[in-house]
Amino acid sequence: MRSTLGLSCNWTALLYFAAVLVCLLQPAASVKEHDFKKCHQSGFCKRNRAYADDAASQSSTWSSPYQVISDSPSFKDGQLHAMILKTINANSDTARFPVTVSFLKSGAARVTVDEERRQKKDIKLRHNSPVRKERYNEAENWVIVGGLDLDKEAQVAFWDKSQVNIKYGPDSKLEAVVKFSPFEVDFRRDGATHIKLNDRGLLNMEHWRPKVEKEKVEGRETQEGEGDNGEDDNGEDESTWWDETFGGNTDSKPRGPESVALDISFVGYDHVYGIPEHTGPMSLRQTRGGEGSYEEPYRMYNSDVFEYVLDSPMTLYGSIPFMQAHRKDSSVGVFWLNAAETWVDIVKGKDSVNPLSLGLGGKTSTHTHWISESGILDAFVLMGPTPRDLTKTYGELTGYTAMPQEFAIGYHQCRWNYISDDDVRDVDRKMDKFKIPYDVIWLDIEYTDDRKYFTWEQHSFPDPIGTGKQLESHGRKLVVIIDPHIKKIDGYSVSKEMTSQDLAVHNKDDEIYEGWCWPGSSNWIDCFNPKASEWWKTLYKYDSFKGTMENTFLWNDMNEPSVFNGPETTMPKDNIHHGHWEHRDIHNLNRLTFHNATFEALVTRKKGELRRPFVLTRSFYAGSQRLGAMWTGDNQASWDHLAASIPMILNQGISGYPFAGADVGGFFGNPEKDLMARWYQAGAFYPFFRGHAHIDSRRREPYLLGEPYTGILTAALRLRYSLLPSWYTAFFHANRDGSPIVRPMFWTHPTEEGGFAIENQMFVGSTGLLVKPIVEQDKESTDIWIPDDEVYYDYSTYQVQNTHKGKHLTVKAAIDQIPLLMRGGHIFPRRDIPRRSSAMMRFDDYTLVVAVSKGGAAEGELYADDGDTFNHEKGQYIYRKLTLAGNKLSSTDADGRDIKLTEAGSWLKAMREVYVDRVIIVGAPAAWNQKQVQIESEERTWSVKVEYHAAKKGRAAFAVVGRVGARIGEDWSIKLA
Ligand code: GLC
Repeated sequence: MRSTLGLSCNWTALLYFAAVLVCLLQPAASVKEHDFKKCHQSGFCKRNRAYADDAASQSSTWSSPYQVISDSPSFKDGQLHAMILKTINANSDTARFPVTVSFLKSGAARVTVDEERRQKKDIKLRHNSPVRKERYNEAENWVIVGGLDLDKEAQVAFWDKSQVNIKYGPDSKLEAVVKFSPFEVDFRRDGATHIKLNDRGLLNMEHWRPKVEKEKVEGRETQEGEGDNGEDDNGEDESTWWDETFGGNTDSKPRGPESVALDISFVGYDHVYGIPEHTGPMSLRQTRGGEGSYEEPYRMYNSDVFEYVLDSPMTLYGSIPFMQAHRKDSSVGVFWLNAAETWVDIVKGKDSVNPLSLGLGGKTSTHTHWISESGILDAFVLMGPTPRDLTKTYGELTGYTAMPQEFAIGYHQCRWNYISDDDVRDVDRKMDKFKIPYDVIWLDIEYTDDRKYFTWEQHSFPDPIGTGKQLESHGRKLVVIIDPHIKKIDGYSVSKEMTSQDLAVHNKDDEIYEGWCWPGSSNWIDCFNPKASEWWKTLYKYDSFKGTMENTFLWNDMNEPSVFNGPETTMPKDNIHHGHWEHRDIHNLNRLTFHNATFEALVTRKKGELRRPFVLTRSFYAGSQRLGAMWTGDNQASWDHLAASIPMILNQGISGYPFAGADVGGFFGNPEKDLMARWYQAGAFYPFFRGHAHIDSRRREPYLLGEPYTGILTAALRLRYSLLPSWYTAFFHANRDGSPIVRPMFWTHPTEEGGFAIENQMFVGSTGLLVKPIVEQDKESTDIWIPDDEVYYDYSTYQVQNTHKGKHLTVKAAIDQIPLLMRGGHIFPRRDIPRRSSAMMRFDDYTLVVAVSKGGAAEGELYADDGDTFNHEKGQYIYRKLTLAGNKLSSTDADGRDIKLTEAGSWLKAMREVYVDRVIIVGAPAAWNQKQVQIESEERTWSVKVEYHAAKKGRAAFAVVGRVGARIGEDWSIKLA
């Protein structure tokens, strides 16, 4: 043994070291999973899973110990209040939990449960802790922006000693049945139950109890994942109640166990989606083992999980606890408003084995179990009935996607790091030389002086304003990174101001917390403190953050927060935030508060300058969509990471945060050229499109690849740029009603069951453009699933596809081809002149593409505004409805406004000189084969040339009308025959 392990021979030693070196240089195959907790290593998760197992093992005798005191309920103005009593033990000790069920005008219902004793602060904290005694109840203040109006028309339909039924929602179609013993709520639509809370009896709110000091069991060491061992007087395992150790870090728990858990069943639903951010399939897997299932619950605990593993329920950088269940003809959802660490178990089962669902004839139901570490129980129940209704109602509550800076939907060129002013200027010039469009170049952490944010490394970046001006000359922007950790060092004014004004997060002893991140020893701004956010604003003023100008925008990273020497690479849970809340309570919200502070700082950068901010975030929570874009963090330059990006982005979209992208090319590693080609082709269809690379990876700007690859990347970029008006319109829809920007099949075709699990193809907004990026090496064709009976045309060749509803269509996709179809029945806008940046296209004329449906019709929309200010909120926008009906193609104001009545600001005035250039009609019938057509607009009529191309060898007939010459903002119509 010794000779092999002891490396007695020099050769063996050399080989060993060579192997170690190779391992170190290669990007690790995956994150160190053991650095992150599994459920059994997280005390409250383990306890609640055990509770569920207990309940299941005694299924015939199990009864939830939570009961509504039968004379406690009262109902008024859309709200039901009651008191739940929890029986703690055989001695009939009890704890009291006030519950409120609120019925909202939107048709959503909200169930909140608090704990009376903690609410009244009638508890003792351990360790003389200065933290708050209540369960955290302020998530709402950060997350909810509307939709809370009570439905005062809601009415009691039935009330006796055992239950109360409330009818609510539009036309009183919805009904909540609140059962008292045990406490359970069923939600019905049109008489049928869709969602049940606590029907499996897993509601568990760990009530406050004092710690009874006991002698330690001799000879037994504390294990990882547990603290004091032993059982309490009720025979419960209290080993993780009072403190808990993981990875060498001990979490003191001043309030003891406080978890909140609930089972939520989706009756008759086979598919559930949402709860990002995870890498698994869009249609979520079961989590209790068995074939095709995970062993672990989905975890939401925002963490810096670089080089993450794929197909895993492991937590990632951000979280949105919004889940939707879908079946043919119906969608319902639940939003679990809790910012603490949360786990969700999912199991599916045939209803026939469930005695509670007699009559549902063997349909599959999905049973979920939500487990959070602390806070109140706060769950919104959304009753659909369509996926579109869900995203709309969810957006009403948490806010819709902000209208972006228009440049932000162009292409972003990033790497860690562009190393100097010269480097940035050189990349900028080369992109022009190779005629590659782009909008933004990014600076990662190395632009700073010694990683002190708001400073510049003087030798490499002596003239950032000069650089900014070069970019500005072509309408381009600079994004710089600012992270939330502030280097702890003497003589750094930002650090001094933050600490001397007490604006940083505190440790458990209520002193300023110190940890380790990129700059070394650091402190963290606490944006829960309004004073910290106010101070943060001052740092971004142009005269304070010297070197920045109007075209400088922001990137906020590492705010899970990432702490290199912290437990699970983040902050200790017993750290203390403003208001004396523990970090435990607000962890998942942390990022939103920081993102929000930067957003506000950009809005107030200069007096009188009211422009939309652009701030990219890595971590996020429900509501972050109001503040800017997100990306999926540190992926790898591999084909499987490219493939995983599509379901991840689709899942973001249906979960209310559609401005999403993945690092194009892959962050870690060196992508082969074919992978780069395919990734840019996919990236051209990410709502957020940014190339990014790790500091150790080789340079890979698109022009470096050489032909044919540079040409392939350029073509993908040009395609993106020509379609920018359609992308911007899709953002507008997301902004107005929460529609995803790229849409999965179940969302666009909710009745087509074959599409419910499809997650690798997507529609772009309402354009009818259906894309399926190639995500496998050497693949030269792919199968696209066709959701309906409509006609589909190839985007570039106009070939009519031989499609059949519910079947796959094989399309060719050589390395320079993107599988992209146009669904008949849509009209979408483009701008076809190749330019350097989106700003250079601002006042270009439009091309409209009409894909004629089987029935000879089509419709579409174009939305445009100045892409920069908030003037669109005052009516300064163009919003056209484009319709092809019979032989007439027309454009009218989609909001039914008379745009002339809107007092035109400078952008609207300039748009007076922007016209419809060409109209390309694909699938044009032979009757439109003529030389000229008549246009009517602004009380004038004129004729315009038509080129008609008859159908040929499977290619659709098409007509090119133009130059049309009608103003884009005016009503017009074209008589095609
Ligand atoms: C993190 C980010 C990555 C960035 C790096 C340096 O790993 O996810 O995008 O380049 O930090 O700032």
